[in-house]
Amino acid sequence: MPIAFVAGATGTLGGLIVESLRRRDVQVRALVRPGNAEGRQALDGRPGVEVVEGDIRDSVDSLGRTLDGVGVVISAVLGDADVIVDGQVNLLRAAEKAGVARFIPSDFSYDLFRLDPDDNAYSNLRLEAHKAFGESPVAVTSVLPGAFLDVVHQPYFEHVDWEAGTFSYWGDGDQPIEFTSYADTAEWTAEVALDPTPGPTVRVAADILTTRGLHQTLERASGRRLEPRRLGGLDDLKAEIERRKAGSTNVFDYLALQYAWVMNTGKASFDRLDNDRYPGVEPTRAEEFYRRALNS
Ligand SMILES: NC(=O)c1ccc[n+]([C@@H]2O[C@H](COP(=O)([O-])OP(=O)(O)OC[C@H]3O[C@@H](n4cnc5c(N)ncnc54)[C@H](OP(=O)(O)O)[C@@H]3O)[C@@H](O)[C@H]2O)c1
Repeated sequence: MPIAFVAGATGTLGGLIVESLRRRDVQVRALVRPGNAEGRQALDGRPGVEVVEGDIRDSVDSLGRTLDGVGVVISAVLGDADVIVDGQVNLLRAAEKAGVARFIPSDFSYDLFRLDPDDNAYSNLRLEAHKAFGESPVAVTSVLPGAFLDVVHQPYFEHVDWEAGTFSYWGDGDQPIEFTSYADTAEWTAEVALDPTPGPTVRVAADILTTRGLHQTLERASGRRLEPRRLGGLDDLKAEIERRKAGSTNVFDYLALQYAWVMNTGKASFDRLDNDRYPGVEPTRAEEFYRRALNS
């Protein structure tokens, strides 16, 4: 079996992908950035894992030297345009030179291919990367798992205020939204890495919930009442995004609201699910996920 190369192996998703690949007995080559001693230590010496140092913004030649014998390159990096666009293009070019068969870019979201450039700044970086990938002899496959259950209840997403005991939302809350955990995304990514013919996109989801459903699920799982607070319609949400954008040069001031807008309009919802193609993955549904996450 050829080696799987993981860029972003020291990150949350990348680390889980390494584990999912090893559970399937796949040899892993993990890219660790120079100077990341802690990340290196977590991977060094693990059976079946070879650590190589580098940065995906390194030259194509130097990256290419780390790809000898690699069958699939998985990118789970996170960053700005220099990483998501330039770095990933670099990595793909190196993969082309090394004769790699497949590249899984760091997309891991809703169906970003249905979005317009202004809809979400981070999704748009990924769209720009795909444009720059161009025609490639390496087959590019995006794994699309919807929103991560692990993050949507965190304060940054502005839904749940555990201290105030409130659940805030925009719109009518009735749009079905696809959700998956980091761990199940890693499991599906490992399956896709081993799939000889996954096609250009794989859409999976552990659960589909409306925002109202998410609210009820969080209440049941936490055993706490969260007072619902409707903040306005989706047009009001769009106006709030523009208001924050106008007063800021920091994308994180409005990025969470851009995710909320995309998810609640259904603009990037899936038109099919590929769960059945991978019966080896038994995903954890939202209520079970939150029972464990909120009560541990
Ligand atoms: N759908 C969702 O709701 C959702 C939620 C969260 C994340 N995601 C997606 O999941 C993916 C991974 O996110 P994450 O949360 O796992 O990120 P993370 O924990 O921040 O990990 C990012 C990884 O990228 C590495 N990296 C950054 N720049 C690099 C470079 N120039 N060269 C090589 N490696 C580099 C980091 O290395 P260092 O350790 O050295 O910094 C780290 O290993 C991203 O595409 C993200 O958008 C999706």
